[in-house]
Amino acid sequence: MDKLLIRGGNRLTGTLPISGAKNSALTLIPCALLTEEPVTLRNLPRLADIDGFQHLMTQFGVSVGIRGKRPEEFGRVVTFEASRLTSTVAPYDLVRKMRASILVLGPMLARMGEATVSLPGGCAIGNRPIDLHLKALEAFGAEIELAAGYVKAIAPEGGLPGGEFDFPVVSVGATENAIMAAVLAKGTCRLFNAAREPEIVDLCKLLVAMGAEIEGIGTSDLTIHGVKQLHGATYKVMADRIEAGSYACAAAITGGDVMLEGASAEDMQATLHALRNIGVTCEEHKEGVRVCADKPLKATNLTTAPYPGLATDMQAQLMALLCKAEGTSVLKETIFENRYMHVPELNRMGADIETEGRTAIVKGVETLTGAEVMATDLRASMSLIIAALAAEGETTVRRIYHLDRGYERLEEKLQLVGADIERVGDE
Ligand code: EPZ
Repeated sequence: MDKLLIRGGNRLTGTLPISGAKNSALTLIPCALLTEEPVTLRNLPRLADIDGFQHLMTQFGVSVGIRGKRPEEFGRVVTFEASRLTSTVAPYDLVRKMRASILVLGPMLARMGEATVSLPGGCAIGNRPIDLHLKALEAFGAEIELAAGYVKAIAPEGGLPGGEFDFPVVSVGATENAIMAAVLAKGTCRLFNAAREPEIVDLCKLLVAMGAEIEGIGTSDLTIHGVKQLHGATYKVMADRIEAGSYACAAAITGGDVMLEGASAEDMQATLHALRNIGVTCEEHKEGVRVCADKPLKATNLTTAPYPGLATDMQAQLMALLCKAEGTSVLKETIFENRYMHVPELNRMGADIETEGRTAIVKGVETLTGAEVMATDLRASMSLIIAALAAEGETTVRRIYHLDRGYERLEEKLQLVGADIERVGDE
């Protein structure tokens, strides 16, 4: 397994390219199941999770054509063609490696009238149930069977009759599955208290480009009028707002000045608001977002929430930044039950963080020191990288396969802006 060696202290400056959004791509790819025609996605990030989803699609008989871009360029153009599906089953050995596989349930059900997906396990940040996915599909008229670790969804003859579902808890994935099931329904489907993340808007834009009829895009009340069939489309994946926010924290903790090329300020307002409260200058340009930390960092209190609130996926990275801020910050994680796995590792680097349930108290320290640390989950791993960039001495981060799931060529991007970071094989 590889590891990353980082020597802290370099001020990050220059331009860092932002890739297509992992959490959009993972819901755009299964949309190809909804039509016999080719769906081409541009700006797809080169990530382990995306490769995994491409492989899963081939299991159903989908042809996947990767039009490689030059190696020095980021992102890929990939065409998915589901003209003929040979299976409606997403098997355990693939789903267990990538829980986002559950996002084939809705589109496969809509296209084939049935879908069987291995139940995704929990993960480091929580038990991640899928009850809301299933309740939404049932509300639209699907029959759900749970047996032997698999969930099977079946639509009545002629397709899903339609219906409405009011989400008791905002769920990104359940909203995505419900929308993808509804677009080919016989009737009309309505969702209330649906997730409004930019990735959901990206999904709706692709589906509309394929011929879907969706009202209320960008709001928490969606109305989807089922259509007979959808056609192919070519669509560019939105910029990754969490990757951009992560590198903004990296620039800020080093007192740097970095242009996050391709970042969409509109999608990351809550993160920019948090950074500005910490004393970081964030300029919104058409070509991206410029982050400049020319003043001392100040403590601030943060609470995660569904969009447009502060993304839970940004909590660990902002916590790392706050380790170097003057004063005490109080963070509240309201979405997942176990999303402080980065705290013990940050404390091993000299941070002063205490957690009490879903609250973390971060007391700013003068100095962080390099150490041997272990990545545990995707965003926790990034928080260790951020801390290491400002730490005295060398940090070794192991189990960086977590990072490769969500950050395209991370060390190359950080080297572009002057970080002293290298990837080495783990002897
Ligand atoms: C998506 O996960 C993202 N993943 C996560 O990003 C992100 O943290 C999360 O949304 C919240 O924004 C992808 O898009 C692939 P949820 P998802 O359903 O859809 C509970 C990253 O780091 N819930 O919005 O699984 C759930 O337990 C990843 O890129 C139910 O109770 O998140 C959680 O407490 C991590 N029942 C809350 O809702 C359900 O059926 C929000 O989960 C579904 C969810």
